[in-house]
Amino acid sequence: MAEQKIRPIKSQVLYVRMKLLHRPSRPQQERSCFHTYYKWLLWFSFSLYFFASYLIGSDPHPPLSSLRTTHVSTRESTRLSRALFESPHLAPQKPQTSPGVLKNLKVFVYDLPPKYNTDWLSNERCSNHLFASEVAIHRALLTSDVRTFDPYEADFFFVPVYVSCNFSTANGFPAIGHARSLIASAVQFISSEYQFWNRSGGSDHVFVASHDFGACFHTLEDAAIADGIPEILKNSVILQTFGVQYKHPCQDVENVVIPPYVSPESLWNTLEKAPVDGERDIWAFFRGKMEVHPKNVSGRFYSNRVRTAIWRRFNGDRRFYLRRHRFAGYQSEIARSVFCLCPLGWAPWSPRLVESVALGCVPVIIADGIRLPLLSGVRWEEISVRVAEKEVGRLGEILEEVAATNLSSIQRKLWDPRMKRALLFNSEMEEGDATWQVLEELSEKRDRSYRRARVSGQLESDR
Ligand SMILES: *[C@@H]1O[C@H](CO)[C@@H](O)[C@H](O)[C@H]1NC(C)=O
Ligand SMILES: *[C@@H]1O[C@H](CO)[C@@H](O)[C@H](O)[C@H]1NC(C)=O
Ligand SMILES: *[C@@H]1O[C@H](CO)[C@@H](O)[C@H](O)[C@H]1NC(C)=O
Ligand SMILES: *[C@@H]1O[C@H](CO)[C@@H](O)[C@H](O)[C@H]1NC(C)=O
Repeated sequence: MAEQKIRPIKSQVLYVRMKLLHRPSRPQQERSCFHTYYKWLLWFSFSLYFFASYLIGSDPHPPLSSLRTTHVSTRESTRLSRALFESPHLAPQKPQTSPGVLKNLKVFVYDLPPKYNTDWLSNERCSNHLFASEVAIHRALLTSDVRTFDPYEADFFFVPVYVSCNFSTANGFPAIGHARSLIASAVQFISSEYQFWNRSGGSDHVFVASHDFGACFHTLEDAAIADGIPEILKNSVILQTFGVQYKHPCQDVENVVIPPYVSPESLWNTLEKAPVDGERDIWAFFRGKMEVHPKNVSGRFYSNRVRTAIWRRFNGDRRFYLRRHRFAGYQSEIARSVFCLCPLGWAPWSPRLVESVALGCVPVIIADGIRLPLLSGVRWEEISVRVAEKEVGRLGEILEEVAATNLSSIQRKLWDPRMKRALLFNSEMEEGDATWQVLEELSEKRDRSYRRARVSGQLESDR
């Protein structure tokens, strides 16, 4: 439980605390008012979104298709922070964590100038696209019980920098060229304004790097490897979507593999129309980029040519529903499918992993060596089918065999609501959801915490 300790008011602590009263709890009435307004806005946005998707029918960027949601404007949160400066005490948030589960983990969230984070939200895609876990985790932490306003009792320090929100007008994908300088500047800021970075060398500081190759911040693997992880991050903990089971320069850092972001609201909406145990009239589904003649990009081919092989071998096979064009309503197709192919792209991971699990379609993972997200909370080996890249030509046979033997047992485990919950980032953390799982994995790394080391050091010397 988040219990505020009363401490002697040292001027520095007070300064730090005041800086961090960022997202205060509001009086109940104002809060419920805000909620009503928020819900109404959400409802309206969804209606608009689905109405629009019926009209448009196809969207140039389905994985990035933005669902309009709202957020507290920067101005409002500033105003609320100010109001809180005057409030004598922070009312505790509603309890979320069962006592003991997160073992009293405490996370301090830096209040960085808006140019590092909230300014980017002016583009509403920033909080909804597949790399938006950087926004979602930040938001969830701000209202979570593990958040502490007292950096002296924190096990970990979360540094909220949004690096994936500078969308290129040419192709709609994030331009992440500025990621290194933005993060370096944020570290410069916190290490000069606060003492906590220097005392641990950043080892108890946590960053999100949700892009293709984690903290290497480049879309192409060779360039990512050549650039490497910035020196400044090498001692910290990175929450990253990228993960492989072998040694790779882009994960040569303490890390937690996290799921890509998929808007929970969009999934709930799909599930309302097509429940997981409903009829599934598509046997094997894939929609996305499948190049017939993939280009040789400095020795590498998109998807290791796996998607090309799938297209060439199974296009026209009646069991397979393969589409190369983008379509905004693709989630409803996933909900209609028994097997959903999740082949690698440039990077091994894909938002399809999350969408398939959430919509009850058995993920067929074709990405050699992938390290899947949140292994402690999601039993991937029980709820998915793995196919080696070189076996992709036998996909039909392999899936037939699964269908004839263990499909219903896989589905039963897949449809356990805990699997879906574990992969979704809610704007307010819920027990068992993705942020919760991330915190659980962080709590396993508490030996990195300066505070922890000092406390256990004292215990040692007491003995
Ligand atoms: C956004 O990305 C473009 C490259 O596509 C770059 O020129 C620009 O400086 C970036 N903007 C910021 C604020 O980093
Ligand atoms: C942390 O170390 C840097 C580099 O040595 C120094 O410039 C900075 O002032 C230090 N920060 C604090 C708060 O002492
Ligand atoms: C791809 O291009 C590289 C040079 O960039 C070349 O060495 C390699 O042989 C090519 N691979 C294939 C399969 O064409
Ligand atoms: C399902 O069966 C396949 C092939 O018979 C096997 O490789 C796989 O491990 C089984 N999966 C589960 C989750 O039982």
